[in-house]
Amino acid sequence: MQIGIIGSGHVGLVTGACFADLGHDVHCIDSDEKKIRLLKKGGCPIYEPELHDLIKRSVLQKRLRFSHRIRDAVENCDILFICVGTPTKETGETDLSAVTQVAEQIAHHMKKYTLIVEKSTVPVETCLHIKKVIQKKLKRKIAFDVASNPEFLREGSAVQDFFVPDRIVIGVDSKKAEELLRIVYRPFRAPILVTDPKSSEIIKHASNSFLSTKISFINAIARLCDAVGADVGKVAEGMGLDPRINRSFLNAGLGFGGFCFPKDLAAFIHIAEKNGVEFNLLKDVLTINHEQKMYFVRLVEKMLGSLKGKKLAVLGLSFKPNTDDMRFAPSLDIIPALQKRGAQISAYDPVAIAESRTYFKQVKFTSSVYEACRKVDGILILTEWREFQEMDLNRIRKIVKKPVIIDGRNMYDPQVMRKNGFKYQGIGKGFKSIKR
Ligand SMILES: NC(=O)c1ccc[n+]([C@@H]2O[C@H](COP(=O)([O-])OP(=O)(O)OC[C@H]3O[C@@H](n4cnc5c(N)ncnc54)[C@H](O)[C@@H]3O)[C@@H](O)[C@H]2O)c1
Repeated sequence: MQIGIIGSGHVGLVTGACFADLGHDVHCIDSDEKKIRLLKKGGCPIYEPELHDLIKRSVLQKRLRFSHRIRDAVENCDILFICVGTPTKETGETDLSAVTQVAEQIAHHMKKYTLIVEKSTVPVETCLHIKKVIQKKLKRKIAFDVASNPEFLREGSAVQDFFVPDRIVIGVDSKKAEELLRIVYRPFRAPILVTDPKSSEIIKHASNSFLSTKISFINAIARLCDAVGADVGKVAEGMGLDPRINRSFLNAGLGFGGFCFPKDLAAFIHIAEKNGVEFNLLKDVLTINHEQKMYFVRLVEKMLGSLKGKKLAVLGLSFKPNTDDMRFAPSLDIIPALQKRGAQISAYDPVAIAESRTYFKQVKFTSSVYEACRKVDGILILTEWREFQEMDLNRIRKIVKKPVIIDGRNMYDPQVMRKNGFKYQGIGKGFKSIKR
């Protein structure tokens, strides 16, 4: 099948490369000409495991091509997946300008029946909006359908998630659209849930909101554990053994970041309110998430005293491991807050340094964990990269000024750290119990 991908970012590029790998002819479009030039030259604009190899292979086999002209996809394809960004405005409302612009351009170039699939995360009733925009802009009567097919991939394991999804959700209001999408998703073993477009749109926002709620819930519990000297890891384990609760997403830490959860929550609250439904629960989820980063900064102060003139190593900058995505990364709030208190920061991240440079001022970026940790008063873990799990503790202890680790991701066993001569503090590991 000829598939068009409009918007070749984290979602679009993965979707395009994976569809091409399955044998489809894929046209990846992006309005960012620099990105398209890089892709045409054989580069990859983002770090995502397996993605670059997948792209190279499909380009070589002539199943994947790139263009900045939407016309190239509209004229050649049976199905167009809209994968453009949908950021939120200050008010929490989703900025649908890119989606609207794409819909207008599709209408402008459309000459035959086309199925337009909304893969970007959008508020309920966006399918309807796209349909109206296209109908208004079409120069003559051409049949088309608009479907919702939310994306659930996770950055860092996006290729794997694409090929082995938990579920495929399709929101359609025509048999033809359903049939076409069933053909596209035939090679997948996952259950396919077919709904109306509105329910499908809500499934995506509701899923992300629910997962965020679990994260904020366990972070609130972590603060209680710190206050009374309990262990949030054990609490999560005990809760998670109940299958109705489930252990996943009950990891206390620095809260959620990335391009999805924070913006999707804000958008969901906004669209609910617009429809007369107050969603105070989700407002609290966002508040707890924001507070959690400052809670960590206070923890650092409790461990190290005044931060004025203190040298701190920050390990991990991206919002989660296996990605260089810095959007809404906790480091963006934590590092400036530490600097405001007078700390000097040296930072290391296995892949996100290049991406980070534009976000921070007066941070010394290093090319290894060891360089970052030299002569520091404390080491802060902000992203749980596997590399940090395997760092040489003996070597680190010898090069730091003070052997203190404050672990925002609960990566380490406190006992092991203390045995190795470190003063160690995680999140929700009972702050009362540590000796200062
Ligand atoms: N990143 C994720 O993990 C993830 C997961 C699931 C869903 N989503 C959703 O998918 C959508 C895309 O997210 P992303 O992370 O890929 O964003 P992104 O910013 O990485 O990519 C969006 C791309 O769209 C391009 N674009 C913008 N306007 C365009 C236009 N008019 N024509 C052509 N291209 C245009 C941009 O240049 C950019 O390359 C969002 O709605 C997001 O919420 C993201």
